[in-house]
Amino acid sequence: MSKHLLSIDDLEKKDVENIIELSFSMLEILSRDIKKVPTLRGKSVGLIFFEPSTRTRVSFEIAAKTLSADTVNLSEKGSSVEKGESLLDTIKTITALGVDFLVIRHRAEGFPHIVAKISGIPTINAGDGKNEHPTQALLDLFTMLTRKKLRKVDDLKGATISIVGDILHSRVARSGIKLFSKIGMNVILVSSHTTLPKGIEKLGNGNIKIKTQFDDEFFKSDFVMALRLQKERHGNFYFPSDREYNEIWGLDENVMTKLKEKNKDVVIMHPGPMNIGVEINSEVAYSENSAIFEQVRNGVATRMAILYYLFSHLQKIS
Ligand code: NCD
Repeated sequence: MSKHLLSIDDLEKKDVENIIELSFSMLEILSRDIKKVPTLRGKSVGLIFFEPSTRTRVSFEIAAKTLSADTVNLSEKGSSVEKGESLLDTIKTITALGVDFLVIRHRAEGFPHIVAKISGIPTINAGDGKNEHPTQALLDLFTMLTRKKLRKVDDLKGATISIVGDILHSRVARSGIKLFSKIGMNVILVSSHTTLPKGIEKLGNGNIKIKTQFDDEFFKSDFVMALRLQKERHGNFYFPSDREYNEIWGLDENVMTKLKEKNKDVVIMHPGPMNIGVEINSEVAYSENSAIFEQVRNGVATRMAILYYLFSHLQKIS
């Protein structure tokens, strides 16, 4: 792979297998009494978040610190961008200050690619508009394995994940579709016509199915991932109301009963933040089938694995 992680396209299957294997080792470190290893001592990670974030930013920060790296946080508020400095000059400044890795989230699609180019230092895309969110897809894959007590990426070959909701505006969906189909999973997308981008199935390896409502095939899923309605990206124009959305596409008790009839061990996922009562109801989100908080915990391990993988890759090429 290249020295950056900007898209799932940057990863060969072998890279995915290595990152997942490393995530298991990192999870073990996180279960120790003293959660600290010296791997990245003397290195620093710049966390540049120009869109809101809780899980992703904090998990990158914990991941870097567990590996003994220092972290520097930058958001639009409080930075020189507010004083009119161009974002690219801000990036050049951070780079000149001597940061070793950049983690960037920005509303503009493709912006992390530009940052990678101008900074020249290993850059990780933590979400660019509705384009991609590769570290989320990797932690989701890792969670499917931990939840099913599986170890190898190939163990998920032939399993089915359904992704439900606002596919049109979801970077989580785009990275997920690419990654899950790359490893041979079947992917079902369930969404209203209004939030189904034309040609989305082309992102996969031919194992993508599209549905506009729940049906028998959906109810047989091994994993079901709900997506948040990305209202900040579309206003309220795509659905008449939250209530109506919830009635048709929400994961509620009724949907859960039907899923469990076909597969009692179905795993429910959500990248967070959840809008309870819209795309998912509390009786589903907090049920024993839910892996939603395991996704958050695993996010730290996977991001440690990614930082370490980029670092060890750099050692090899320098
Ligand atoms: C997602 C994101 O920001 O893309 N959340 C996350 O990273 N955990 C999904 C969302 O905002 O709905």
